[in-house]
Amino acid sequence: MSDGVRELLLSRIRDVADYPKPGVMFKDITPLLADPEAFSALTDTLAALCVRHGATKVVGLEARGFILAAPAAVRAGLGFIPVRKAGKLPGATLSQSYELEYGTAEMEVHAEDVSDADRVLVIDDVLATGGTAEASLQLVRRAGAQVAGVAVLLELGFLGGRARLEPALKDAPLEAL
Ligand code: PRP
Repeated sequence: MSDGVRELLLSRIRDVADYPKPGVMFKDITPLLADPEAFSALTDTLAALCVRHGATKVVGLEARGFILAAPAAVRAGLGFIPVRKAGKLPGATLSQSYELEYGTAEMEVHAEDVSDADRVLVIDDVLATGGTAEASLQLVRRAGAQVAGVAVLLELGFLGGRARLEPALKDAPLEAL
């Protein structure tokens, strides 16, 4: 990605203080999505990563990951697979729970959507603690597929997600734009 594109994307991400609770600086990507030049450049970049890492399918993580992953999949000519929060998918699912700061959460994928013939790139908007991405990689591997990598728009490095993700990534790349 060129410096110009990186600058464009960064300039369209808005910091919102004290949201969703006091002390949190929320990264709002809606200005980026509303700008066709920036959204298209991001889509091109993610689609290029699909090609570079030999992906055969693209997984997007609910909810904001869907917005980035679906157009990237279309642009790369690949199928899109939603990994959803528990209870949202109607068919037979694989489920993976993961630890939050307080309690647990669970992500699911339709078992029939991923197979051992696939090589999957996982796309999300933000890597924070890494729990969501870690659960998605576990789902992909349990389905028998290879992991092409994880691509996120933003990595909040101070939350340690990269280290948490490392065992689940094995040698696959984590691309933080
Ligand atoms: C956010 C974000 C990532 C996840 C990252 O999703 O979109 O999916 O948190 O956090 P982690 O690395 O600590 O797991 P969230 O479920 O908060 O909101 P969304 O449904 O609006 O995407």
